[in-house]
Order: sequence, then C-alpha cells, then structure tokens
Amino acid sequence: MICNNLSVTPDGRLLFAGRDLRDLADQYGTALYVMDEDRIRLMCRTYQKAMKEAFGENALPLYASKACSFKQIYRIMKEEKMGIDVVSPGEIYTAKEAGFDLSLAYYHSNNKSDEDIRFAMECGVGYFVVDNEEEVYAVSRIAWEMGLNQKVLLRITPGIDPHTYEEVATGKVDSKFGSAIETGQAMEITKKTLALQNVTLAGFHCHVGSQVFDSDVFIRSARVMVEFIAEVRKETGYLPFELDLGGGYGVRYVETDPVYSIEESILEVGRELKEMCRLYDLPLPQIHMEPGRSIVADAGLTLYTVGTVKRIPGYKNYVSVNGGMSDNPRFALYGSQYTVVLPEKMKEDCDFPCSVVGRCCESGDILQENVQLPASVTRGDLLAVLTTGAYNYSMASHYNRVLKLPVIMLAAGKDYVAVRRETFEDLTACDL
Ligand code: LLP
Repeated sequence: MICNNLSVTPDGRLLFAGRDLRDLADQYGTALYVMDEDRIRLMCRTYQKAMKEAFGENALPLYASKACSFKQIYRIMKEEKMGIDVVSPGEIYTAKEAGFDLSLAYYHSNNKSDEDIRFAMECGVGYFVVDNEEEVYAVSRIAWEMGLNQKVLLRITPGIDPHTYEEVATGKVDSKFGSAIETGQAMEITKKTLALQNVTLAGFHCHVGSQVFDSDVFIRSARVMVEFIAEVRKETGYLPFELDLGGGYGVRYVETDPVYSIEESILEVGRELKEMCRLYDLPLPQIHMEPGRSIVADAGLTLYTVGTVKRIPGYKNYVSVNGGMSDNPRFALYGSQYTVVLPEKMKEDCDFPCSVVGRCCESGDILQENVQLPASVTRGDLLAVLTTGAYNYSMASHYNRVLKLPVIMLAAGKDYVAVRRETFEDLTACDL
C-alpha cells in the first residue's frame, strides 16, 4: 500500500494504524477525518534526526502548520520539540491556546496588516519571516511603538522552478512571495533591514514549492542561497545566523508516485550546503526546514459512507459520499490524485469505473475521477480517501452549510477526539 500504516486483513478489510475503520465509523459516525498520531510523531523524529545529522545539532525543523492546524497538532509539535511556521493570527492564536512556546514560531505571509503584526508581537512570536520592504518598515515601526526588538528573517526568491503544479510554485522570480535575487530587490531589502531600528536580521528564508520529489530542487536553492549570503557578506559584512530552506517534500498519494527517502535527500542537501560554505569560506548557519505535507499527509484518511450510486448507461457512473469539496477541495482546485478504496471490500475486484463525488450543489464537487471500485458498491458501504492529512481539514469550508468533519486521532492502539463534530449551533454561532 502507499504507506506502511495501511494493511489489509486476510478477509479483505483495510486496517489503518492497526485499526478496523468500521469500528471507528460505528463509534464516531461518518464522514470523519482519521489521523495516526504515531505516524505524525515518526515523521517529526525523522526530520529531527536527519537534519541534525545533515546540518548539525542546532538544526531545527519547523512544522508548516497551514497543512493541518488545530490545538492538538501544536501540542504534539511541542512534545516533539519542533518549531512551527504560522501564517495568520488564527494559526498564532490556536498555537498559543495549545500552550505552544511562540518564541519558536516563525510568522510568514506576504501581506501582514498592522493589526496582524501587533497581534503577533503581543503574543510573543519569535520570528517574522518578512516578505517585502513595506512589511519590514511596518515591523520596525510597530516594534518601536511597542518598545521591543523583533527578530526577522527575509524571504528571498531564489528564482527556481520546482516543476510541480503552478498553484504551489513560489520560488520563481515572478512569484507574489518574497524579494527576488535576480532583480536586486533581495540585496536592497537586506541593506535596508540592517539599517533599521528595532529589528534584528536573524537570517534568510526561501521556499520553492510543494509536493517536490526531486532533491535537486532543494540542492539548487541551497546553492543559490549560499551564493547570495556570500554576496551579502561582500557588500555589507553581515553574516546570517539562520538559513531556512523552506518546505515542500512530496508524499505518495497514488501507487505511481515515487518511493522517496526524505532522510537521504536531507543528507544530500547537507553535503552540498557544507561544500558550498567551504567554497565561500562561510560558517554554516543554523538550518531550518519547514515541512508541512510530509509530516501529516499520510497520517490521515477521510472516511465516508456511500449514498447514491448512479449508473448512466453509455456514459458514466457516479458514487456519491456524505462529504466532498467542503472537506477536500483539492481535486476541484488542483486536479489532485488520490487513492480511493472501499475498506470492507479490499479483496473484491475493482472493475466498476466511476467518479467519486460529494454532496455539494455543484458539478465540480468531485473527490476523484476515473476511480475503479468493486462493482458491488452500494449505499451504506464505507469509502476511504487515503492521504488526506494535509491541506484537507485546513482547507475545509462551510459551502452549502455542510458541517465540518471531526478529527479522530489514533495513538498507541487508542482513539480520541482531537476536533469534535460541528453542530448546527456552531454553524449559526456568528449569525446575528
Ligand atoms: N513553507 C512555506 C513558506 C510554504 O509556503 C509552504 C507551503 C510550506 C513551508 C510547506 O510546504 P509543504 O511541506 O507542505 O509542501 N494547498 C496546497 C499546498 C499549498 C502549499 C503552500 N505553502 C495543496 O493542497 O497542495
């Protein structure tokens, strides 16, 4: 199977983290997100170990919490001694409520309002990852007003195309994120930041894209960043304490996705980075990476119940479930591929071609096209979409006033509610 937390019993039942999904469906109802806490922790430890080996003891992975953000995730990150990447006051608030030490939070976003900046400073966010000149002036002004000194990293655009899908490529010069090296803006913002009051330049950041399987992408951006640092030293004498190489490692959604060792890739990046630093006679800065998807994606699946099965002779078949684009908009947005199975019919032949669709009032409400399911698929069957731990819960909406799904965590053979099921009262809580 696509991840080793999945297995099939001899009588054809899918187990996830060793658990039969029917038991969870009976206990909690469907539709629901199920997450494997042990897998999340394993991935945190994988990054911790590989990064320390590759970059030295002070290397720190930052969990990119946009991938999946709720209180329990931040508690797990705290216990795993991870830093976090946050992108909004909402994520900052959630982490704070969970008791996460915000001095280890790195605050991103290409457009932070004065209110956002003030809120983050009041919460004690350790680092701002500054996107542009306007922002660094605002951070300096507000830090002065608040009588504090704010540590910042500058987000630099290295000019690298990760060759994944356009919506997640961020390292190219024409990106809305960061200051580009090629246009001279990266050097300019560095000099201006060094001259500002109430901000301390801690280092540089780059991120080129998401769902990347090619180590070369990370190696090339590390190279470009070291060259940039050498240029900065030449022009200003400044040496960064920290270098953040961003996130982006890919995960397997379908069997045809490559089997890939993140650990090996990190070690390769480490070798290249050290070599480059030697070449330019630079000390190795403290290195960060910001994995989101690869920490949580295959730690999650979504469990639905099949409703209508519609056969349109000579055309196509539809299998409808009790969720859809409101809990997983990724097919509608990016045409993302997923593995879809009937967890109680894993040994049956899959020879029924269909589109798996949701319950929303929109033709684009598709979870997956060209799926092959057992021909016996019928109302009441369980249906699982695998690898939904990243960018599903965090991208869910209330479209059609469909309730958001709960998150059930599995840990060491036990299960517990991490996010409870919404009620109609929750839905109208803000309506006056
Ligand atoms: N750091 C920065 C600055 C980022 O912008 C991102 C993702 C990450 C780290 C984490 O990247 P990851 O390790 O998760 O690939 N909604 C899209 C993904 C958007 C990614 C945005 N930035 C999706 O569902 O595929």
